[in-house]
Formats: sequence, C-alpha cells, structure tokens
Amino acid sequence: RLTCVIPAGGVGSRLWPLSRANAPKFLLDLTGSGDSLLRATWDRLTPIAPADRIMVVTGSAHRESVEAQLPELLVENLVTESEPKDSSAAIGLAAAILELRDPDAILGSFAADHVIRGNVLFERAIRTAVQAADQGHIATIGIHPSHPATGFGYIESGAARGDLAPFDVYDVTSFVEKPDEQTARDYVEHGGFLWNAGMFIARATVLLDQMALAEPDLVRSLREIAAAWGTDQAASVRERLWHGLPKIAIDYTVAEPAAAAGKMVCVAAHFEWDDVGDFASVANLLTRGRGSDLAVLGDGAQVLSDASSGIVVSESDRLVALVGVEDVVVVDTADVLLVTSKAHAQDVKNLVTRMRVTG
Ligand code: GDD
Ligand code: MG
Repeated sequence: RLTCVIPAGGVGSRLWPLSRANAPKFLLDLTGSGDSLLRATWDRLTPIAPADRIMVVTGSAHRESVEAQLPELLVENLVTESEPKDSSAAIGLAAAILELRDPDAILGSFAADHVIRGNVLFERAIRTAVQAADQGHIATIGIHPSHPATGFGYIESGAARGDLAPFDVYDVTSFVEKPDEQTARDYVEHGGFLWNAGMFIARATVLLDQMALAEPDLVRSLREIAAAWGTDQAASVRERLWHGLPKIAIDYTVAEPAAAAGKMVCVAAHFEWDDVGDFASVANLLTRGRGSDLAVLGDGAQVLSDASSGIVVSESDRLVALVGVEDVVVVDTADVLLVTSKAHAQDVKNLVTRMRVTG
C-alpha cells in the first residue's frame, strides 16, 4: 500500500565546491561507499516498497543523472520540475499523481540526501508510521537531538500511543521548523522535543487536503498538473502553472499546521541518522568509531599528514600534505581549492551566496 517518494532537489551549498549545480548533494558519495546518497536512499527503500512503487521528483536538469543512478526507476515514476519550487510543490505533485492512481494510497516521503545506518530499525519505524497513516494521521520520524541545531524542524511529543506499539509512537503537540538558536537551546534543555528526520508518511489525499488549508491555490494547481500527467498535455500544463507556484517547504504548509491541529504522530527513531549538511558532519561521520582523527574522502585521494585532524576531500591527483593543523577542512577539486576549519564548515554557504550575488 505504501508508495515512496524521494524529493531530490537543492544543491547543498555548504558542501561547495564538492556540490555544484550539476553535482547536487544527493548525487554525491559522502560516505566513501561508492554510492551516491540518492542510490543509498533507493536501496534503503526497496525492502519496504517494490521498485514500481518508488517515485523520484527532481529538476529536469538532473533527469539523466538520476536515471543513471537508478536504472530500476520506472519512467512514469520519474517526475521532473522545470524549476525548483521547494518541497511542498515537489512532494505535493507526487501526492497528486498518486491519489489519481489510487485514492487510498499511502505516501512516504524520504529525503534524498541523508545518511542512515541500521536499516532493519529503519524499516520497522516506517512500518509503524504506515500503520499510523492508515488510521488517517500524518506520521513523522523523530530523532533524539544531540545539540541545539537550528537547521531542523522540532517535534514536540505528547502522550505515547500504545495502540501503535511495538515502537515508540507519540502524539505530536507542536512542530516548529528551524527555530532560532535560543529556542532550539530551550527545546533541547527542556526535553520532549525530537528533530524531524525529514520523512512524512500519510495518505496522499490527507497530505494534500492538509496542504490545501494553507495553500489552496498551490494544491489546485498541483492537482491540475497531475490530471494531465502522462498525457501529451503534461508538459504544457506544467509549464503554464509551475512558474507561478509558491516556493515553500512542506514543513510550513503541512507539518506545522497538522501538528497544531492534532493530526500528527511521531515515531521515535532508533536508527542512526545524519543530515550530513556540511564538511564537519561528513568528517564526524567518517571518523566515528575509527582510530584516525583525519577523514579522507575521494577515490584517488593522496594524503600525507602529521599531527593533523579534520577532513581531506580530494578529486584531484595532487598530494595533499598536512602538518600540525587541527580540525582542518581541505577540499581539492579540479578548479577550486577550499580550506576552512570544522568550526567554520557551516559558513561555506555564505561564500556561495556571495559568489551568486557577485556572479
Ligand atoms: N524535487 C525537489 N525540488 N526536491 C526538493 C526541493 C525542490 O525544489 N527542495 C527541497 N527538496 C528536497 C531535498 O532534496 C530533500 O530531499 C528534501 O526535499 C528536504 O529539503 P531540504 O532543503 O534538504 O530541507 P532542510 O534540510 O532545510 O529541512 C528539512 O529536513 C530536515 C532534516 O534534514 C525539514 O524537513 C526539517 O524539518 C528537517 O529537520
Ligand atoms: Mg536537508
């Protein structure tokens, strides 16, 4: 009954110069496994849903890369956008296409660019979320927060729902997308708040009807595009409507209002989850549980180091030599060399913004 949707958009600008317009975060291998994050996401989902029930929504510019990564993806399950309109439009369009195929369909949306370890626990959590979705709820997956991150949504958990055991399932009393630092700190100190893992599981129609309360025109347009999907009108209807759609994340149009209305439940995750948003988190991921404090990423990376820690990412055949630098970040690509520190890894985004502004 479950159809999985993988929204794959966004560049991941804190991972520049590894991430580029033509090499967005979801197409990168950030674990050294040889698989892109998108491919790993697909492989994580196939035990839960057969390949013909996995959809991908991405920019038309990425169509070929996505097809190359996912040869099993059916052509009718690859949905492309003419320009990025954020996650409400991306997930909403998939939901609108899905509800026409099956009015009772349950949709699970899974971000394309996370690292998850513990696939059996992941599967169990999702199966529990599907049960909740079947009862009409909008289900989320919650991660126990390790620090007051401001880049995540926070889920306030209420009463436990024994009826949906065996895993921890809670009513959600509120959802706050990307709080400011002080609020995030209060949440983490207070306890009872979980990070939103960026997964939403609900009946496609429930999700769209909820979105329509906040953005009625958006949902009307998405349903109109979906109605033409698969016909020879598809491209022209999409072209006519897409550009005018509001660019807004699903966390604002669905998660916050659904939680406020008491329609959301949360399954607390027991698997390892990482958003790998910047090079500091890539470094931590690669060095966790290993002897070395220096992470190295890249097929042909050559590194010579003494008393140094941090991360070297290399796409060149140049030798990277480090002496006595701690928590350094070195990213060596064909045309750009980035040097920063783990503490400033977040700020790479500012550089990228500045380059966009100044061309
Ligand atoms: N196709 C498509 N088009 N996909 C998109 C677009 C778009 O325009 N914009 C975003 N996405 C996809 C991303 O690729 C990712 O898979 C998912 O939607 C979430 O978007 P992000 O832009 O990565 O969101 P975020 O990281 O700022 O925040 C979300 O994820 C956090 C966890 O990583 C929120 O859901 C937070 O609440 C959550 O904590
Ligand atoms: Mg993200």
